[in-house]
Amino acid sequence: MAEAPVTHASVMRAESLARHYRSPRGFLRGHATVKALNGVSFELAAGRTLAVVGESGCGKSTLARQLTLIEPPTAGALFIDGHDAANTDAATLQRLRRRVQMVFQNPYASLNPRKTIAAALAEPLVIHTPLNRAERAERVAQMLQHVGLRPEHAARYPHMFSGGQRQRVAVARAMMLQPAVVVADEPTSALDVSIQAQILNLFMDLQEATGTAYVFISHNLAVVEHVAHEVMVMYFGSAVEQGPKAQVLGAPLHPYTQALLSAVPALKAQDRRQRVPLQGEMPSPLSPPTGCTFHTRCPLAVARCRAEVPTLRELAGRRVACHVVAG
Ligand SMILES: Nc1ncnc2c1ncn2[C@@H]1O[C@H](COP(=O)(O)OP(=O)(O)O)[C@@H](O)[C@H]1O
Ligand SMILES: [Mg+2]
Repeated sequence: MAEAPVTHASVMRAESLARHYRSPRGFLRGHATVKALNGVSFELAAGRTLAVVGESGCGKSTLARQLTLIEPPTAGALFIDGHDAANTDAATLQRLRRRVQMVFQNPYASLNPRKTIAAALAEPLVIHTPLNRAERAERVAQMLQHVGLRPEHAARYPHMFSGGQRQRVAVARAMMLQPAVVVADEPTSALDVSIQAQILNLFMDLQEATGTAYVFISHNLAVVEHVAHEVMVMYFGSAVEQGPKAQVLGAPLHPYTQALLSAVPALKAQDRRQRVPLQGEMPSPLSPPTGCTFHTRCPLAVARCRAEVPTLRELAGRRVACHVVAG
């Protein structure tokens, strides 16, 4: 008998989110607008992971700052639990902020060196819940166990931990208020390769236990392959290909996705249709290319690509922004 499909509630929805920055061009040359994030949309359901992948500078951290309400978007809308974050009352906004938590690349920078681990984990409970001291201590002890740390770790300070253990603490802290979404920005990039898999597995175990949705940001496709349900490939502030992992990574259509995959030898070599070497570097954000921003590095580019910006269109079970590819 076929299992009934599991339907998950949507916990986060981004509609054409954009963030532009004013950036100096240099001495006496005025300012330019950097379109760090240029209209990104997605929907994320409880218990699911959207992985965001792309080279350094493509706008991943800018996206993370919009999703965690650290910065307001220049344009577009963000819905958390169905509420428009930009158009809601103060009390609701405060509640929405608790619903989205962040894990950063460098766990050392995100932990206060003067606070014990117990104090760091209890802090969100002090601020946001009516729990008393004993109840907080119990929650902290439970969470330490969940993330694979021992009870005696509670009294220690961040410098007494290894990088992997510190990232376990950072994950625990993000999870204390039972958020709907955790946005993790390169959470394993600063760790030894041998430790990375342990932390990825921790994320996945916690998701299974709690149903928390993740926006998992990484420049590393092997990491994305491990954790993702959905994948969004970003280039120059925009999504160039997005959809289920099986489609986007298993049978990539956009030449940029194919190029990223070509650079990962161990990943699904048999599924790759062609090897696309990635040439050159990302253009300067101060003078973006016309048309498709990828055309300066694209082996398939034709005249139309230099003139016209491609929009995302449905193709073979995913969305892709390219004038040339056909399913
Ligand atoms: N506060 C800012 N002011 C000006 N430019 C910025 C600012 N933050 C990011 N940028 C620019 O936006 C682009 C995207 O940056 P970022 O989101 O950090 O990319 P990623 O995380 O993918 O490496 C880059 O060109 C970066 O220089
Ligand atoms: Mg970044």
